[in-house]
Amino acid sequence: MNRRDFTSRLAALGLTPALSRLLAIPEIGSAALAPRVDGARLNRHIAELSRFGANPQGGVTRLAYSDADRQGREYVLGLMRDAKLTPTIDAAGNIIAARPGRDGSRKPILFGSHIDSVPEGGNYDGDVGSLAAIEVAQSLGEQGITTRHPLQVVIWQNEEGGLYGSRAVSGQLTGDELQNVSRSGKTIADGIAFLGGDPQRLGPTRRNKGDIAGYLELHIEQGGTLEREHTDIGIVEGIVGIKQWEVTVTGFANHAGTTPMDQRHDALLAAARFVDAVNRTVTSIPGRQVGTVGRMQAFPGAPNVIPGQAICTLELRDLDEAKIDSLFASISAKATRIGGETGTTFAFRLLHENTPAPSDARVRALIADSARELGLTMKVMPSGAGHDAQAMATLGPMGMIFIPSIGGISHAPKEFSRPEDIVNGANVLMASLLKLDAVDWT
Ligand code: HGY
Ligand code: MN
Ligand code: MN
Repeated sequence: MNRRDFTSRLAALGLTPALSRLLAIPEIGSAALAPRVDGARLNRHIAELSRFGANPQGGVTRLAYSDADRQGREYVLGLMRDAKLTPTIDAAGNIIAARPGRDGSRKPILFGSHIDSVPEGGNYDGDVGSLAAIEVAQSLGEQGITTRHPLQVVIWQNEEGGLYGSRAVSGQLTGDELQNVSRSGKTIADGIAFLGGDPQRLGPTRRNKGDIAGYLELHIEQGGTLEREHTDIGIVEGIVGIKQWEVTVTGFANHAGTTPMDQRHDALLAAARFVDAVNRTVTSIPGRQVGTVGRMQAFPGAPNVIPGQAICTLELRDLDEAKIDSLFASISAKATRIGGETGTTFAFRLLHENTPAPSDARVRALIADSARELGLTMKVMPSGAGHDAQAMATLGPMGMIFIPSIGGISHAPKEFSRPEDIVNGANVLMASLLKLDAVDWT
């Protein structure tokens, strides 16, 4: 067992510095007396949260605005109270748990993540960052540490649907979006009310640039780089922009038996060609851009009726918003050509967009120092997943910390991060928070 594994195992056992001193086990790195989280408690909380929306095949379906979401939030609210935090629910339905600082005149430092999931998702996406934030706040209290800045542990609502909670706070949520229908079947407005918010009063939740001293988020990588390169910590350089559209293909429903092949207006055939065109367009240029058609429905959906309508989604992502836009222009031109070939028409409705967000170089340096002092290896890397941190980046200095996802699996029941990596990430979060608290950037 190498040194990294040895110390990780100790951390995962919740071996706090005091206990390690008692056992005369030398702490690694120069931060021998730096505060640490209670790793065993944190991993226990992650296991407990996974009960809410658990699937028989493993993983979780805890859709935003579902009963499982509300039950998971109740569980988290209880942990926040145990951590001596004061949780409230803002009008946008976000949970914001305050911890006073020594100087109440300072802007707050926010840290947290989300606990809603995709359908048949995993038990770590969002959960690690949310529960680690609570654990850090609880450990600070137990170790008698009061920060200069007020702290706010945040659990953002409906991250998976499109950063709805954090974008309400950053002022990026539009009124039209409140009528979007979420995966739970509720509109966003009804969902916010279901969580205890008030969609008619989103104004007071809005914060402006400079209203926060900084934002930190711990998250699983949701990719395979860190594991493949045996690296403990990812330091996020930037988060991709995401644009999602609903695509409606209109043809003409007709009898599948009596309509000759050359007289059809087959919407599903056109949509199938569209899916292929998306893939060819996105892969036709160099870079890390990605394009996905994640859902498709054909109507009326009978085996003996030529589909008169098909509805699918289109999602494009890249760190460069201009590239997203140029890819979309090329794809919609191809859609027009496919429509001409099949006698159908294509209509695109933008569902939501998250703007690309670079992290703050100064915060990246704090995270790197924290990882180094903890004796952890690290790598600066982009995030191919979207995160609430990109909304927070519009309000103040933002930093994200990644831990390895085993097999690079995420948004699936087999999503898994090792307990020791979770503890490493939480300790880096804690150390980075304390370093952020010590500077006067705002
Ligand atoms: O889709 C994403 O990238 C994020 O998990 N919501
Ligand atoms: Mn996430
Ligand atoms: Mn996700």
